Amino acid sequence: MHSISLFNWIMWIISILIFADSSSSSSVCKCTNQTLCNVIPAPDKVVLGFSLRFDNYKLYDWSRINTIVPFSKDRQIPMEFICYAHSYGASVLIPPIVSKDIILNVSRHSEAVTDILKDVQKNFADGVNFDFEQPLTADESKLYTMLVAKTRVALLTINTAYQVSVDAAWSPDCIDLRCYDYIGLSKASDYLVIMAYDEQSQMAGPPCYAKANSPYNQTLSGIESYLKSGINSSLLVLGLPWYGYIYTCLSFDNERCQIEEKIFRNSQCSDSAGRQLPYSYFMKVIQNDAIRKWDSDSVSPYINVENMNSTQQMWYDDPLSLGFKYELARSLELRGIGFWNIDLMDYSNTLLNKLMRNEMWETIDVFLN
Ligand SMILES: *[C@@H]1O[C@H](CO)[C@@H](O)[C@H](O)[C@H]1NC(C)=O
Ligand SMILES: *[C@@H]1O[C@H](CO)[C@@H](O)[C@H](O)[C@H]1NC(C)=O
Ligand SMILES: *[C@@H]1O[C@H](CO)[C@@H](O)[C@H](O)[C@H]1NC(C)=O
Ligand SMILES: *[C@@H]1O[C@H](CO)[C@@H](O)[C@H](O)[C@H]1NC(C)=O
Ligand SMILES: *[C@@H]1O[C@H](CO)[C@@H](O)[C@H](O)[C@H]1NC(C)=O
Repeated sequence: MHSISLFNWIMWIISILIFADSSSSSSVCKCTNQTLCNVIPAPDKVVLGFSLRFDNYKLYDWSRINTIVPFSKDRQIPMEFICYAHSYGASVLIPPIVSKDIILNVSRHSEAVTDILKDVQKNFADGVNFDFEQPLTADESKLYTMLVAKTRVALLTINTAYQVSVDAAWSPDCIDLRCYDYIGLSKASDYLVIMAYDEQSQMAGPPCYAKANSPYNQTLSGIESYLKSGINSSLLVLGLPWYGYIYTCLSFDNERCQIEEKIFRNSQCSDSAGRQLPYSYFMKVIQNDAIRKWDSDSVSPYINVENMNSTQQMWYDDPLSLGFKYELARSLELRGIGFWNIDLMDYSNTLLNKLMRNEMWETIDVFLN
């Protein structure tokens, strides 16, 4: 039902060619070195940082990171940022805005693709990273795959170096009602970025208990499901959290923090009972003499903080827990690792912050070596 005819595809390609021809002369490269506007192809080993802002990037460790996906609010990417990233050979992938309305209405696809191409070309980006996360049925998901495929065909028609990546749930099994066609998406892109975080969006219970954001086991079983579905490990990048959750305990017993019920997409218990906080927050809590504990089931650190009337439990990831998961990506020969997001460290200029940032960057070598 959703297939499009050969004729439509041919008309599509022709319209792209016309578009590519008319637009190629309209953007002016503002890098002092013009070669820095060239499109960079997908690296063999991907180390991807999602980012939120443009004021820290000179402090990123560009010797270890090679792909940036900026989620800035105003969607204006400073040209200096592109020139800077490209001077290190790093790619910049734009997250296109695609709504469910556009995905489900095929007659809106071509305009959407045209907008995406304009955005990529105007910014001298190296391609796109699709981050659509709404519920879709298996039938609807074919249309999402179609839109991604059309975008890729259009980009490759302009320049074969352009990249397309797609963000994927921690497991392919309809997580959060996202019944996406991951095999189709993997064929229509350079790689999927598995979002191995918010893994407690649908927990067992009630009663509901605070748990790790990215437990080792659960992350492993998600990756294995992708591999079992037939997706090649070279098409999978493991995205991991540089943030954690803080939960208020209704009761606290034997390290178990019972939390309130918060329904999320059909699940009675979910991590929306907690609050997300950056890696830098948990480091400050520990500096203030809180005790970092270790949960060997989830291979994750956690902290209990006693307040006057209640206990709070914090679950986060640090270089040790991340290192185990980077090693997992290495041993399973995945295409890469990624982080949501690299602006969640404290970039202010203190010795302690520098040490913490170095430790986080250096842990990436577990995957690279
Ligand atoms: C321009 O940038 C390219 C790619 O980084 C580099 O190889 C080349 O040496 C640069 N040219 C000048 C004149 O700096
Ligand atoms: C699909 O998009 C077209 C073009 O924007 C619009 O005319 C039409 O009403 C839309 N169809 C639905 C079902 O929303
Ligand atoms: C997976 O991809 C790699 C690299 O492209 C290739 O060498 C290998 O043959 C592929 N494996 C399978 C099972 O298709
Ligand atoms: C996770 O790992 C722990 C410790 O290695 C093990 O005891 C537990 O059974 C595992 N849980 C699952 C769901 O695989
Ligand atoms: C602790 O509980 C007491 C009594 O219920 C209440 O008056 C007080 O405001 C609470 N303190 C905090 C910090 O929540």
